[in-house]
Amino acid sequence: MMKYLHNTNTFLLVLVCLSLTGLIFWVYNSTSFRYKEIRICTNLTKEHQENSKLQSPQGLSYNQPSVVGPDGKVIAMTPWLAPIVWEGTFDSFLIESIYKQQNITIATTVFALGKYTQFLKDFLETAEQNYFVGFRVHYYVFTDLPEQVPSVKLGEGRQLKVLKVASSNRWQEITLRRMEKLEKLIESRLLNEADYVFSLDVDTKFYGRWGAESLGRLVGVLHPGYYQTPREQFPYERRPESQAFIPYSEGDYYYGGAVIGGLVKDVHEVAKTCREQLDIDAAKSIEAAWQEESHLNKYFLYNKPSKVLSSEYLWQDFKPHTNEVKIIRFSQVIKNYAAVRPNP
Ligand SMILES: *[C@@H]1O[C@H](CO)[C@@H](O)[C@H](O)[C@H]1NC(C)=O
Repeated sequence: MMKYLHNTNTFLLVLVCLSLTGLIFWVYNSTSFRYKEIRICTNLTKEHQENSKLQSPQGLSYNQPSVVGPDGKVIAMTPWLAPIVWEGTFDSFLIESIYKQQNITIATTVFALGKYTQFLKDFLETAEQNYFVGFRVHYYVFTDLPEQVPSVKLGEGRQLKVLKVASSNRWQEITLRRMEKLEKLIESRLLNEADYVFSLDVDTKFYGRWGAESLGRLVGVLHPGYYQTPREQFPYERRPESQAFIPYSEGDYYYGGAVIGGLVKDVHEVAKTCREQLDIDAAKSIEAAWQEESHLNKYFLYNKPSKVLSSEYLWQDFKPHTNEVKIIRFSQVIKNYAAVRPNP
């Protein structure tokens, strides 16, 4: 650019002496040059937008964020300014109206292997009453027992697809393979078939409405057991040999593995990364403390969610109610592990 300007005077002098053809040539050249400049700017803007991921460096030292303030009131924002969704922080009518206009499809995946198919009926029936009611929802049920998938009456625009997977005799193995299945499903179908995807645990029930307020680029949920726990007591994986390792001095929240959501592309990144990390661990015969949940927590620590769902969106039926959680929308049912898991 500078070189071009320096030469302009000489260039103009030559121009005076030259014919009209020369002038046209110059005009043509400078136009295409400016044209290039504009293209470079557009590229930069686009790259910047695509880089809206909230990646944070490892080893940063900062205070653990609180979920409940000293006054006992819930906190509705993370320190990286992502909303934490609590009852009372949003207008569901307004939010639903906004997202209705976008004509979106929400894919929802569940894994129901072996005896876990017994949870499908309640899961699906309560989802039909509470979960994205009025939106286009496509359920994708992974199961080794397709004949045990109950027929549940679905609302308008809602579909259920059964995907057969191989059986497994270790529940840890089942959990470990979920990320891979999700990754492959997104690649083969969801990129074309949906806008958002939620991967949910099946041994659950919906008790309250769960709607468009939960939508975001990358969405995690606060595990109901740890939202007031000091970070060093989180059940993160603590062995440095594991890819899921998080040191005691780091951590924002303990996220529940029962809910992962977001734009199809962003959830694909979660699933792919966690699957790769799980593979590395498996090759070293190391299994993280809470399998995929441990890897998910590692992912969310360095790739911050753009929206965090409060524990209203993931409770456990056995837990007594607390002051902070005014409404339970989604909860893990009480189950007899011995009766549903293929191994201890
Ligand atoms: C909404 O999306 C569905 C499915 O993706 C499509 O068939 C339909 O034409 C869309 N409607 C509008 C108004 O864009």
